[in-house]
Amino acid sequence: MKFDTPATTNPIDRMKVVGQPVDRIDGKRKTTGTARYAYERNDAAPSAVYGYIVGAAIAKGRIERIDFAEAKAAPGVLAVVTHENAGTVAKAQAHTARMLAGPDVQHFDQAVAIVVASTFEQARAAAKLVRVTYARSAGKFDLAAERSAAVKPKDGKPDTAIGDFAGAFAKAPVKLDQTYTTPDQSHAMMEPHATTAAWTGSKLTLWTSNQMLNWAVRDMSKTLGIPKEDIHVLSPFVGGGFGSKLWIRSDAVMAALASRAIGGKPVKVALTRPQIMNNTTHRPATIQRLRIGARKDGTITAIAHESWSGDLPGGGPETAPNVTRLLYAGANRMTATRLATLDLPEGNAMRAPGEAVGLLALEAAMDELAETLKMDPVQLRIVNDTQVDPESPKRAFSHRDLVGCLRTGAERFGWNKRNPVPGQVREGRWLIGMGMASAFRDNVTMKSGARVGIDKKGVVTVATDMTDIGTGSYTIIGQTAAEMMGVPLDKVIVLLGDSSFPVSSGSGGQWGGNSSTAGVYAACSALRDSVARKLGFDPTDIVFEDGKVKSGNRSVSLAEAAGDAGLSAEDSIEFGDLTKTYAQSTFGAHFVEVAVDSATGEVRVRRMSGAFAAGRILNPKSARSQVIGAMTMGVGAALMEDAVVDKRFGYFVNHDMAEYHVPVHADVPYQDVFFMDETDAKSSPMKAKGVGELGICGVGAAVANAVYNACGVRIREYPLTLDKVI
Ligand code: MOS
Repeated sequence: MKFDTPATTNPIDRMKVVGQPVDRIDGKRKTTGTARYAYERNDAAPSAVYGYIVGAAIAKGRIERIDFAEAKAAPGVLAVVTHENAGTVAKAQAHTARMLAGPDVQHFDQAVAIVVASTFEQARAAAKLVRVTYARSAGKFDLAAERSAAVKPKDGKPDTAIGDFAGAFAKAPVKLDQTYTTPDQSHAMMEPHATTAAWTGSKLTLWTSNQMLNWAVRDMSKTLGIPKEDIHVLSPFVGGGFGSKLWIRSDAVMAALASRAIGGKPVKVALTRPQIMNNTTHRPATIQRLRIGARKDGTITAIAHESWSGDLPGGGPETAPNVTRLLYAGANRMTATRLATLDLPEGNAMRAPGEAVGLLALEAAMDELAETLKMDPVQLRIVNDTQVDPESPKRAFSHRDLVGCLRTGAERFGWNKRNPVPGQVREGRWLIGMGMASAFRDNVTMKSGARVGIDKKGVVTVATDMTDIGTGSYTIIGQTAAEMMGVPLDKVIVLLGDSSFPVSSGSGGQWGGNSSTAGVYAACSALRDSVARKLGFDPTDIVFEDGKVKSGNRSVSLAEAAGDAGLSAEDSIEFGDLTKTYAQSTFGAHFVEVAVDSATGEVRVRRMSGAFAAGRILNPKSARSQVIGAMTMGVGAALMEDAVVDKRFGYFVNHDMAEYHVPVHADVPYQDVFFMDETDAKSSPMKAKGVGELGICGVGAAVANAVYNACGVRIREYPLTLDKVI
């Protein structure tokens, strides 16, 4: 089904099942431990043995020699695989570094070997006996030092220039010119990267933890040089990904090599937390310069956002300025994205790549501008709202209610009680402050397919290779099929995470919820047509409800319509020009109250409130869970998360959860989340948009702005740790 005209009234609009805050249909399996994750597939892959990855001890250089004789002779060891005996291990296009080093090493902890043994402990002990001799070369690890050598990225991240920024900025009566920095961050998902791999002849099966199964098949095929048809990937449950699992990583490749080395027996590999931080990907650090010129009434006349980040040769930039291209009006504008070469582990997508860090800078700059203007920060944003793409005014937003979010959020939070003068509100030793920021994240759409069937009992089964990375895909897909086929949710079976099912959008970039349910909508539409045809009903006058198909005065149960053979249909949603003709984005406003300890500089978040506009909310309960999770992650970005680079040796030093700090329950208060009641008919037949990444966008800046309001300390280097506050 091609989606190329705005959606009209359709069965989803009934909102009998869709839009209801139902519990997760996979919740019981997850909370009772019967949902099996990649490392736990003893049911499907019994008597698996264990692989342990040896990582490079240098960041750049060559492997001169690998001596694994002692490791090979250690108790329980079955095989040791290195670049010398692994066979083809090519670099897939999606990867910046190879999944197996040798002879050259591209980054610290890049896999150099895998040791396979009967038990995990044996594999781990033997891994310590693998002796690797390196010739180390000098590397570049310091973004600030490489900033002046940064270049325009080759991969289509163009600079933009509209009007005359320099002239307008020079003439502006009120100016801001500030530089902000954000550190490297780790995805810190709960479930590590993990794979169980097994071969049957030339056929490879991977039970792995992955967001995008179709990409996993493609990249594994390229890496091992085997046909896609020979690869079966299963990922029915994923314990978080945040972008780190968009592509297969070394756990999958090394498990496949390890299994092949022992005749195809299943091998389990899970990365340790230190390996997750140095072997896989991270969100790259940025340096961002914001310049904004405004009239005295707050109207922006000139706005510029430049960003510098680094990556391995062949990698890409963090696209922080993207948000400034679309968020606020202003006739004269420019953005520039620069990429430095760094020999750190691969930088790549992490929850809301681009916007998440772009807003940490832009929304702090807007707060500073509001203060200079002596203007309310909410009002400054309202004054500069736009209903069209500021870079190409003929392109309207499909639907944009940033102003509604700002007003509603301010009202719910009690923004009018804020004292605009910093450092004035005190409770004992605590200084209290309030801050706010806009939230903005693009709404990306992706082609997505599904197969839907009805059996002779009237049970509806949906199959798609979509993943549920903790987001609630199972549930909203089930709700979509229930609504379309007119059955209660408990009459729907949802099968996900199997590469033999129709190719879906996968989970990433907050496109999964809207795109995958739209794919299910398309397949259900095809199934409804085939039911109509079979029964000889007029397809334009047909209603599916209460487990029945009705047309005119005829009514047939779905079970009877399906018959003994059952009925099934497959289709996909393909997004045409409509989603390109209109700027498609999601919006919100964050409000935060903090307390800053006047003696120690400790920051406590006391209240968080947000209003969000993201089209139709398919399930308010799981959508809220997505948003509060993202808001929590934003508190981490504001106050804690910082993967510290050892600039001599080129690795992340604090590579465990004891030293890489993320918020825990005690750090996060009650979070108020409000969704604007809206639909976006230009986004998909579901009239929904993405919401999984919106919540992290801007919230960190709201925290920083609240800290400033509390104590008058403006910190432009994230995170705002107490050593900087004091
Ligand atoms: Mo997201 S960064 O595509 O999980």
